[in-house]
Amino acid sequence: MDGNGRWAQRRGMPRTAGHSAGSESFRRAAYYLKDLGVKYLTVYAFSTENWKRPPEEVSAIMSLLRKYLLESIEEMCRKNIRLRFLGDLAPLDGELKRLIERTDELSRQNDGMLVSVCLNYGGRAEIIRAAQALGRRCADGELRPEDVTEEALAAELYSAGAPDPDLVIRPGGEKRISNFLLWQSSYSEFYFTDTLWPDMDERELDKAIAEYQRRNRRFGGVK
Ligand code: FPP
Repeated sequence: MDGNGRWAQRRGMPRTAGHSAGSESFRRAAYYLKDLGVKYLTVYAFSTENWKRPPEEVSAIMSLLRKYLLESIEEMCRKNIRLRFLGDLAPLDGELKRLIERTDELSRQNDGMLVSVCLNYGGRAEIIRAAQALGRRCADGELRPEDVTEEALAAELYSAGAPDPDLVIRPGGEKRISNFLLWQSSYSEFYFTDTLWPDMDERELDKAIAEYQRRNRRFGGVK
């Protein structure tokens, strides 16, 4: 969800106002994509590297998440959306952790759409964590090294339970992956746009989807 800071600065507002607009854009995108029939949406809210930002900005983002979970979980449940968080949640503050657990409990049964929010998430860290889990299972004699398959590793990732993304959208003008879903996106289609995340409205999402529909996916084969 890149470009929040610039969106605010262009309007002479503090960067945190951009994150606030970004959180509204997230709500709107989730509801719109659900109406279109999208079953899985994964957004990158906070990376393992984002702790390097000024402490006031980090705490504003965490506050926005708390606010979102407090104010929006009921509405998300009414829309049959399951909301879950992917990443190392241990360093988060106690109240946010409790709200995440509550969100998990309240929305676990919903099967209209699975929305995953990556929080204190890094793609490499996710793969290392999965490799360690498999290593432990091998050391315990529960698994043989030859049982370490793509499926076995994918099942240990935070994202287990969701298919690999068909389309990865990067707003905000940068053309890089920035440690997002490294394993999962090996055959995803990528869409890069200069549009800043708070401006990624229904029209902009339609453009990304239309572009995706024109792509020729071969998964390494021929067509
Ligand atoms: C990247 O834009 C955005 C973030 C690091 C934070 C995203 C967080 C939210 C939208 C708020 C809470 C989220 C939810 C799911 C309710 P940037 O700050 O790097 O923008 P810039 O590149 O213009 O500086």
